[in-house]
Amino acid sequence: MIIAIDGPAAAGKGTLARRLAREFGFAYLDTGALYRAVGLSLLKAGIDPNDRDAAIEASADLDLELLADPALRAEATGGAASLVAGIPEVRANLLDLQRNYAMNPPGGKPGAVLDGRDIGTVVCPDADLKFFVTASAEERARRRTAEMEARGEAADYAAILRDVKARDERDMKRAEAPLKPADDALLLDTTNLAIDAVFLRAAKIVRDWL
Ligand code: DC
Repeated sequence: MIIAIDGPAAAGKGTLARRLAREFGFAYLDTGALYRAVGLSLLKAGIDPNDRDAAIEASADLDLELLADPALRAEATGGAASLVAGIPEVRANLLDLQRNYAMNPPGGKPGAVLDGRDIGTVVCPDADLKFFVTASAEERARRRTAEMEARGEAADYAAILRDVKARDERDMKRAEAPLKPADDALLLDTTNLAIDAVFLRAAKIVRDWL
């Protein structure tokens, strides 16, 4: 079984994907981490993430060790990821890896959950179930601020809100695989819904499908 979960940053899709994978014994792939790894490899080498050729090269020969680097989660890495994600060749280079994972989940698991921006539309258009998880930009910025504060980092809500909106704009407006719900995706708006409620609702849908 393949479950596709798409949506904007900080809408709660990663938490939902991880919990569904745990509940049903499925493998989980955070595809945003792949774009982040491409962005981080450039930042670490001191290369401008707007450098297309360097981004394409990094994505063709992705250093998977970067997936375990704590800097993968930094705001700057997210910004670089959003930039390299607009390059068609970078997306093409990461496609096989994502599809292979979905079709042959590691450990022989009976299913895979993939989360990202284009899983239901491009990576796995034939996924068995598709969820599109959203929340208002203000709520997502509030969550991101709280997460950073919980980690003891300084967080500026106004700046984070600006960043969330800029990232949405870039992810939705890009020509290649823009962020949008697949026609057959189930919409989950988490603005006023706690993650437990979101999880219970989605888990029931998966159980009904099995
Ligand atoms: O979900 P995230 O913040 O880790 O994603 C980082 C960036 O990667 C985000 O700005 C959009 C991009 N991305 C993408 O274009 N396609 C995906 N399937 C996943 C992420």
